[in-house]
Amino acid sequence: MKTIEKVLFALVLIPVFTFSLSANKICVTTPNNTLLLSAEEGSELKFVYYGDKLSEGDIENIFCNEKYAPAAYPLYGMNCQGESALAVKHGDGNMTLQMVVMDVEKITGENSETTVVKMKDKVFPFYVNVFYKAYTDADVIETWTEIFHHEKKNVELNNFASAYLPIRRGDVWLSYLYGSWGNEGRLMQEPLKAGMKVIKNKDGVRNSHTSHAEVMFSLDGRPQENHGNVVGAALCYSGNYKLRIDTDDSEYHHFFAGINEENSTYSLPKGEVFRTPELALTFSREGLSGASRHFHTWARFHKIAHGTTLRKVLLNSWEGVYFDIDQEGMDQMMNDIASMGGELFVMDDGWFGGKYPRNNDTSSLGDWVVDTRKLPQGIEGLLADAEKHKIKFGIWIEPEMANTVSELFEKHPEWVIESDQRPLVTGRGGTQVVLDLSNPEVQDFIFDLVDGLMTKYPGIDYIKWDANMSITNHGSNYLDKSKQSHLYIEYHRGFEKVCQRIREKYPQLTIQACASGGGRANYGVMPYFDEFWVSDNTDALQRIYMQWGTSYFFPAIAMASHISATPNHQTSRSIPLKYRIDVAMSGRLGMEIQPKNMTAEEKELCRKAIEEYKMIRPVVQLGDIYRLVSPYDDLGVASLMYVDSDKEQAVFYWWKTEHFVNQHLPRVKMAGLDADKIYTIRELNRIDNKPLPFEGKSFSGRYLMSNGLEIPYNHTVDYHKKSDYSSRVLYLEVQ
Ligand code: GLA
Repeated sequence: MKTIEKVLFALVLIPVFTFSLSANKICVTTPNNTLLLSAEEGSELKFVYYGDKLSEGDIENIFCNEKYAPAAYPLYGMNCQGESALAVKHGDGNMTLQMVVMDVEKITGENSETTVVKMKDKVFPFYVNVFYKAYTDADVIETWTEIFHHEKKNVELNNFASAYLPIRRGDVWLSYLYGSWGNEGRLMQEPLKAGMKVIKNKDGVRNSHTSHAEVMFSLDGRPQENHGNVVGAALCYSGNYKLRIDTDDSEYHHFFAGINEENSTYSLPKGEVFRTPELALTFSREGLSGASRHFHTWARFHKIAHGTTLRKVLLNSWEGVYFDIDQEGMDQMMNDIASMGGELFVMDDGWFGGKYPRNNDTSSLGDWVVDTRKLPQGIEGLLADAEKHKIKFGIWIEPEMANTVSELFEKHPEWVIESDQRPLVTGRGGTQVVLDLSNPEVQDFIFDLVDGLMTKYPGIDYIKWDANMSITNHGSNYLDKSKQSHLYIEYHRGFEKVCQRIREKYPQLTIQACASGGGRANYGVMPYFDEFWVSDNTDALQRIYMQWGTSYFFPAIAMASHISATPNHQTSRSIPLKYRIDVAMSGRLGMEIQPKNMTAEEKELCRKAIEEYKMIRPVVQLGDIYRLVSPYDDLGVASLMYVDSDKEQAVFYWWKTEHFVNQHLPRVKMAGLDADKIYTIRELNRIDNKPLPFEGKSFSGRYLMSNGLEIPYNHTVDYHKKSDYSSRVLYLEVQ
């Protein structure tokens, strides 16, 4: 159930308690975090504290100087020099807001308690409800607003951030992700200095290629993985966003997060409720990895479809055959992945098209009919093949798009996003265009596509949902001329509506969010999607960097990570299979390769890896992450581990990132183990002629965490198998 539905559900079933405001202080708590606000009736809502859980005594005694405490949701108009979360123009042209607390409600839901602070403007019938949803099973507080009014004329919303958080100045460092297609999730870390830091997205469709809507603040100096106080924030939105951190002349870094207001002025009519997306906040005393663990737990329980169900090991056809799809080829790939122990085969792009066959990226998007020239037995034939090989079957679609060379475009040219009186701007293949999801007919078309596939072929187990274009030319044929600035917002409302309808009817379906690789790694889409494609770049070495960054906010269960061919199709780098396997095994393992080009020895290595992955899968996909040595620190090695919740099993990954003769690499100290438990070590995916010195030996968690194991820098293999790559995966288990 979507968060808001859960709240509404709770509203119906569970009594709503209205608290007396005489106490003033509002305490929002998770198992280990406290957010404290001051909400005096008739006064402004003030921020008092956010951080480690407070005792009752601390709450009682914390001093809040009402006059100087920062506003919890800063408004424009009566303090014009500061940054604001909300800025509006009332129907009569007045540009100011001055809101006071009217009431506070607490709504108890399953695994959460939501505090609603209701505020009204002192002059206008203009209202903002600020929500704080605190989970009881995860250290995350989601906060968002609902904005509405009863003014005669529409109110223009010029800025409408979801939330604001003041962060006390000191030696605060920001960690965030940046990148580009094929190089997503690059970790950036820098101290916050005076001035404004803006992290934004304006793609219109996808929002995580270049920047990410999630950040972490290390509060006590240079960021550390397993020590130090950290505040994490993730905006749960699929569209354009803006994160602002303003360091002005006050004691605070002012952090704002919300929908990007640029070219999106919203004209709000009387009675309509404008709901901003949730900003998820967490605080950890255990460094960046600690904040990641909080996000991962929350995500698995509440923000990722089937977040606690183990994922299947799959083969995707894309890098194996690209558009060259035919029945025999698919059958052969299914046979191969089944023989290696895989559980699912996904047929990628190239299977559809009637009048225009999809042989490359220049045509056919929108014409979702099976190309029987390539697949004479249709999807039925492929499902029968999958059944024969005892695996599941999945299929690729790109529902939000069309090509100008398609029957869909010929029939509905008005469905595409285009600027009135201007030439159509096209994307991929020179002919790709984006469908206008603000239009309910387009929403129906997309729902019907999935519904049609699932009704006709109920055996489909998995959908790869792609999105390979941005909104390039602003214009909707559906929206009224006066509402053209609503396009970006309405697109994502439409997208979410379709996702909701699909999930209502097909709750069990597995759906991957792909968007030219990692364009849709965000918590706006994840409630409807099981996983995302981290990047179109499958180069194992570069993936270490991308997956490292992505793991700051997203758990391994959601990060599709595939073994691909060598030389790599994106970087042309040649990397031995062992290393490619060891990297892919740290996420949701899959393959993206033509197995018929692999040798019997390579297939056997993959078969064993898949077998061992199945054994460690619960630890990787459901366990706690501890990042140990960052590839970004340029120490020649990167290392991380996953530990199960009982601290009985762990998987340790070690990848060499540079190769020199007589180099010196740090010995890696483990983390997250139980110091008093004794762990037995077993190497997985072993290729060496002789076992590691510690193979089968047992060590205390204390020793492993304070000292760590000496990992040989190179593999001991026959001369012709030597390479410049080296990696290890160790399985630790309490006997
Ligand atoms: C995008 C995806 C790829 C693949 C192709 C198919 O680029 O990211 O994984 O599905 O589209 O055209």
